[in-house]
Formats: sequence, structure tokens, C-alpha cells
Amino acid sequence: MTAASDAAPVLEVRNLKKYFPLHEKGLLRRAIGEIKAVDDVSFVVRKGETVGVIGESGCGKTTLGRCVAYLYEKTAGDIIVRGRDRVFHLDELTRSNNSEFRQIVQVIFQDPFSSLNPRMSVLRSVGEPLLVNGIASGGELEARVASIIQRVGLSVSHLQRFPHSFSGGQRQRICIARALVINPQLVVADEPVSALDVSIQAQMLNLLKDLQAEFDLSYLFISHSMSVIRYMSDRILVMYAGKIIESGSRDEILRQPLHPYTETLLSAVPKVSRRGGGRLQAAGSGEPPDLLNLPSGCVFHPRCPYAKQLCREEIPPLRAAGNQRQVSCHLAEELVLQGVFD
Ligand SMILES: Nc1ncnc2c1ncn2[C@@H]1O[C@H](COP(=O)(O)OP(=O)(O)O)[C@@H](O)[C@H]1O
Ligand code: SF4
Ligand SMILES: [Mg+2]
Repeated sequence: MTAASDAAPVLEVRNLKKYFPLHEKGLLRRAIGEIKAVDDVSFVVRKGETVGVIGESGCGKTTLGRCVAYLYEKTAGDIIVRGRDRVFHLDELTRSNNSEFRQIVQVIFQDPFSSLNPRMSVLRSVGEPLLVNGIASGGELEARVASIIQRVGLSVSHLQRFPHSFSGGQRQRICIARALVINPQLVVADEPVSALDVSIQAQMLNLLKDLQAEFDLSYLFISHSMSVIRYMSDRILVMYAGKIIESGSRDEILRQPLHPYTETLLSAVPKVSRRGGGRLQAAGSGEPPDLLNLPSGCVFHPRCPYAKQLCREEIPPLRAAGNQRQVSCHLAEELVLQGVFD
């Protein structure tokens, strides 16, 4: 838990929306609706902190991460990235400042198998961002790649080898080296351990923590696993059906969740800490919502054990709930929900 709560923001996201148009099948492919994958989401990530984003599959986590990394263009809202000496508004990115932006924001994806070009050696893969951005070439590039590759737990003897000769964990280490070689400030890590064997997840999370301290990184850390989010985060954003439904410091959210969905997520965390963290199998009872046909009122009401008539009729706005916390639940002040203790 490194970052002071008053450290400068590296990332500011304001009222972000990302809607995917839905087309009918056939020749005309008329638009018949839209999927609100991310719908009016606001938050900041401060220097040196890890903001964890948790929610079950399909709630919009990846879409959010991809918008922040400018891999998707947003539908509406503002995304502002504050570099060391430059501020980027993401809709102003052009071909020339896109390269500068990439030096500040990097991504680690879930799948280390598809993230690496099978025909490129480790040296070429990890060195590519240095070359493409005109930062280093030749001997200097090799020296920088060798340095970061050792820092992620591999050795210089691996540099001439190709991805197929590595395990999943080693490949993810290569992906981490590739993301960090240009010394970024913000890393979007989208389920970086979910594809890995449970036995090596913990060492990978520890590596990410060590690298954060060493390189003064900020993480937007995405996971469907509360165990992982709990281990990594300073602050937590809980997402449901494209929206943040609760946010706050890690300690407060764990100790005293204010939203029933968060309580459900926490109930899946093993009480005794397990190596690598348990996977979240299902978020309570009921199905995740259909984004094309959301329930009336509070979208969580069909699954909520505390739902009242009001919940079916009125949408609870996301509102302040003390000490830099936010929640969208009509009954947040009444309910005493079950948290977990460290
Ligand atoms: N490129 C896309 N085109 C259309 N719909 C998409 C696209 N990417 C994601 N979606 C939809 O947006 C919603 C959120 O997806 P995603 O961001 O991948 O969620 P998560 O990462 O939380 O599992 C899902 O309903 C998904 O089907
Ligand atoms: S508003 Fe009602 S249905 Fe929604 S989470 Fe709160 S208690 Fe449950
Ligand atoms: Mg995802």
C-alpha cells in the first residue's frame, strides 16, 4: 500500500462511455441497438497506486482498460493521462503524439500466448518498443533488454529464444518486460495471472508488486478474482453491468462493503489465505445481467437478497458514502453487510 491518497493523478477518467453498436444479421446490417459496455464511469489513479477493478465476466472491465490504453476509442467522456512533462487528452492523440502516449501507458494482457509474436526472439519482442519509438537501438537496446529481462526473473541466455520454448509463466514475464522496457508510468494489467497455473500466480503478483516499487508505477489492475484484487489493490472499483457500483479504499471495502454485490464477491474469498488466491467461480446466485435488456430500477435487484419494491422502480445513483467512498444502493445506510478480515 504505497501511494498517498493525495499523490498527483496519473490518470483521470470522467464520465467514460463505450457503447458497441449491435447490427442485425444480413446484407443491410442495420443498427438495432447498442451494448453499453462501459457506462458513465469516473475515477482517478494516482502516482504509485494500484486501483483494482473487480466484477464478473462481461461487466466491462476489459473495455474500460482498452479505452484507457487507447486501444478502443471511447464513445463519450474524458480520459486524461498526465505524463512526466505532458498531459494527454485521449481524443487528441495523433500519429505523432501516440508514440509519446505509448511511452507512458502500457498494457499487460491476460493471454501471454497470443500477446507475443511467435516468430520474434525475446530480444526482438522486448526491444521492439524501444526501436519503434526511437528510444534505443543496437548495443544500447540490447543492454536495456538484457537488464529488464533479468529484472523479471529470466536470463540473458533466453534472449535469442522464441516464445514456443517458454512456459506460460515465462511468457508472461516476457510480456511484462516488454511493457516495462520503455519505463512507462501507468500499466493497465488486464487479468495478468488468470491464464496462469494457480501455483505460479502468487509469484507473478509479487513480481508485479516489486516492479511497481522499483519503477514507481501506477497500476489499473483488472481481475474477476477478489483474492487477486485484495492482494494487489490500494483502492477498489467494483463494476456491475458497465458501471461502478461501489468504490473505496481496499481496507474499507474489505472490512465493510456497502453494496450487496460487493458482499457477494467477498463471500467467495477463501477465509484462510491460499497460495495464489482462489478463483471466483460464480458471483452469488443468478445470472449476470443481459446488457441489452437490463432490469428496471437497480440492475442488481433480481439477484439481491435485500431488494425492496423501491429497488425495482428507481435507479440508485452512485453517491458519496463517506471517506472517499461511493456506492449505488438505496439501502446502503441500513444494511450491515459481511466483510472479510485480514
Ligand atoms: N469489440 C466488441 N464488440 C461488441 N461487443 C463487445 C466488444 N468487446 C466487448 N463487448 C461486450 O461488452 C461487454 C463487456 O465486455 P468486456 O469489457 O470484455 O467485459 P469483462 O472484461 O468484464 O469480461 C460484454 O457484453 C461484451 O460482449
Ligand atoms: S438498491 Fe436494492 S436491489 Fe440494489 S443493491 Fe441496493 S438493496 Fe439490492
Ligand atoms: Mg475481460
